[in-house]
Amino acid sequence: MSAAKQSDYRLLDSQLRALLADETDALAISANFVGLLFNNMENINWLGIYVTRGETLVLGPFQGQPACVRIPFGRGVCGAAAATRLTQLVHDVHDFPGHIACDPVSRSEIVIPLIIDDKLIGVFDVDSPTVGRFSTDDQAGLELLCRSFLAALPAGTTTQFI
Ligand code: SME
Repeated sequence: MSAAKQSDYRLLDSQLRALLADETDALAISANFVGLLFNNMENINWLGIYVTRGETLVLGPFQGQPACVRIPFGRGVCGAAAATRLTQLVHDVHDFPGHIACDPVSRSEIVIPLIIDDKLIGVFDVDSPTVGRFSTDDQAGLELLCRSFLAALPAGTTTQFI
């Protein structure tokens, strides 16, 4: 299955901004962000947010199978994104040292750090059952969507945002 084109991400981004407009509750905004994206991306099996709780990531709004609840910074793909504050694009999770297999079906993954005012408020994680599902175009598209999500959160949002 081919990855979404940039134009699809631009369309999805306008739908996202319309969906989140005028809402101020961070939990509702996060839940709808996850719901819209999960239902508009092909060939994925899990999509959600882990939120920052000190030096640990804790499971937040998601769609997919129940997942690991707590991930220390530096552990697995999500922990690497949190520790480095860099997007992790993993072609094959079996090749990623320390990958946490919440769902053995997952074979590739992208994790994007969520940062506001230099504070890491969490990470956004998408998993696919197909090796190499995510391209650099997907990375650019998903980073655009994350920026719109972060911009929709209420002013003054801090680390413990939900
Ligand atoms: N695989 C992730 C853990 C989170 S689940 O995929 C939902 C990781 O190694 O960070």
